[in-house]
Amino acid sequence: MKKIKVNLGEKSYSICIQNGILSSAGRIIKSLHIAKACYIITNKKIKSLYGDKLSRSISAAGMDAAFCIVPDSERAKSHLSWFKVLENLARFDKGKGVCVIALGGGVVGDLAGFVASTYRRGVAFVQIPTTLLAQVDSAIGGKVAIDMDFAKNLVGAFYQPKVVITDISTIKSLPKRQIRNGLAEIIKYGVILDKKFFSYLEKNVSKIMNFNRICIEDMVTCCSKLKAEVVAADEHEKLGYRSILNFGHTIGHAIETASAYKKSINHGEAVAIGMVAAFDISLMLKMTKHSIAQRVEGLIKQVGLPVSVSGLGLKDVLNAIAFDKKIVKGKRRWVLPIDIGHVVVCDKVPQDIIKAAVLKRFN
Ligand SMILES: NC(=O)c1ccc[n+]([C@@H]2O[C@H](COP(=O)([O-])OP(=O)(O)OC[C@H]3O[C@@H](n4cnc5c(N)ncnc54)[C@H](O)[C@@H]3O)[C@@H](O)[C@H]2O)c1
Ligand SMILES: [Zn+2]
Repeated sequence: MKKIKVNLGEKSYSICIQNGILSSAGRIIKSLHIAKACYIITNKKIKSLYGDKLSRSISAAGMDAAFCIVPDSERAKSHLSWFKVLENLARFDKGKGVCVIALGGGVVGDLAGFVASTYRRGVAFVQIPTTLLAQVDSAIGGKVAIDMDFAKNLVGAFYQPKVVITDISTIKSLPKRQIRNGLAEIIKYGVILDKKFFSYLEKNVSKIMNFNRICIEDMVTCCSKLKAEVVAADEHEKLGYRSILNFGHTIGHAIETASAYKKSINHGEAVAIGMVAAFDISLMLKMTKHSIAQRVEGLIKQVGLPVSVSGLGLKDVLNAIAFDKKIVKGKRRWVLPIDIGHVVVCDKVPQDIIKAAVLKRFN
């Protein structure tokens, strides 16, 4: 088992990564002495795939378990869904001392974390991520949230889990498009933090796409380590460092907003386009070289992610950039690449350059 520590003082926790670790989840949770009973938030599909394995392992460790099934979509992150889950949790708890477990992707993780952070002013929380995106990104770092009608993740908290249990075998049941969704964030880690890791990805793309167990485990472990380091250095995104994780996300989010979260484009696809557009901006500002931008675009294409978008309005994308909720003190933070493994955060990008970069990525 690979174990990575997220160093946050009293709130420190481990990310445990292994193929098949789900059957040891009960033992791991029990050893933390955080609860007598487990309230597992998941959806119907994930329960049918992994619910039995998890509940058997919890029973074997001598704890009670109950499932709470939420819708299989972003709808699970509505305030109505959040409150319904809280009501069911209160009925199950009755003073037992519960921990909330998220068994699923980022949607389940964000909702379950927000439930754990708000129930009884905070109960123990465990992340068991089952999508590649959740394993390398959303399950680590303690950002939990639900959505409002007009904006995603607007109501939330920083609430760290007690442990993250990452069973890489669970991603075998994911559709290829969901694997690519996670790969966009994975490529992002290489670009912002680690040139060696980026080269590793270039060398091993086909093994990764064919689910080579060792490659997947190495890749998930490396990304977990990178994200853990960023979070430990700037847990609440106060120092500006954590914002490097938003590389590719300014234009990416705007594309998602302009497409009104249509199924035609998912988060990873939008981030992939956002990353190449950020390179376009850097190139226009003469901050990076064509050869570097081409290398990154090459890897993005190789994993089957898009580098341009069609069917959207340019104005809608530019408006969405203008209203990005990540604007800090009236300034938008752009994460711009210099080299692979080196980005800078900057708040002064001329409007005509932003427009030209977006336009370049329109079909
Ligand atoms: N908290 C954070 O730091 C953070 C970071 C990034 C994204 N997010 C949030 O994460 C969410 C997106 O997460 P996601 O990409 O994991 O999507 P998701 O949770 O919607 O999962 C994608 C799909 O895969 C299914 N699924 C999950 N595990 C499966 C498995 N093992 N086999 C087969 N199907 C499986 C789900 O039911 C769903 O249909 C968004 O709400 C986003 O806001 C949060
Ligand atoms: Zn993202």
